[in-house]
Amino acid sequence: MVRKFEMDYLPPSATTGEYPGAFPPNVDIVIRRLVGGRILHLFSGSSLIGEERIDIEHRNATKNVNVKDFIASDNRNWDWTVMDPPYQIVSADIKLSDYGIKTAASSDVALRRAMKRYFQEHTENILWLDICAPVIKGFYRKKLWLVLTGGFHTVRVLSWLKREMRPLL
Ligand SMILES: C[S@@+](CC[C@H](N)C(=O)[O-])C[C@H]1O[C@@H](n2cnc3c(N)ncnc32)[C@H](O)[C@@H]1O
Repeated sequence: MVRKFEMDYLPPSATTGEYPGAFPPNVDIVIRRLVGGRILHLFSGSSLIGEERIDIEHRNATKNVNVKDFIASDNRNWDWTVMDPPYQIVSADIKLSDYGIKTAASSDVALRRAMKRYFQEHTENILWLDICAPVIKGFYRKKLWLVLTGGFHTVRVLSWLKREMRPLL
């Protein structure tokens, strides 16, 4: 049975245009209002949200490292993990060409599995912006925001996943 969750939407808002895929201002505001305590930001790009920001190449990150390698070696616990991975999109070769790594994290099954396991052990809340609305064992959907992008752009979903139990791993 699907548990009830809150749902809202964010109307189209212009991006800053400074970095491809940068959080639109209304998404940035929602995230900043919610998060607190110890914050990890994966695939952080140009964003300054989070005390630890992991991005393969962007200078605003605190560590320029592949998320795959980071989660394999990091053992800290977080109140929040924020993430905005590159999605599988039409013309991915063109759209991802501005990033230091050109593969879509959402289609990398091994990475997805490793991230799930890391989250189950190390975070209490996840804010996940993607073109899917994932759930992870041990977490429930607290809220979803439909991020409307306007025109013919892909609709995105900001998912708030909250821990409800620590699964036996
Ligand atoms: C959609 S952008 C995130 C943009 C961010 N929300 C912002 O406000 O600027 C995805 C980011 O993930 C980074 N990236 C892609 N694959 C990665 C990986 N495997 N490990 C670390 N960073 C990665 C890219 O360099 C890019 O900056």
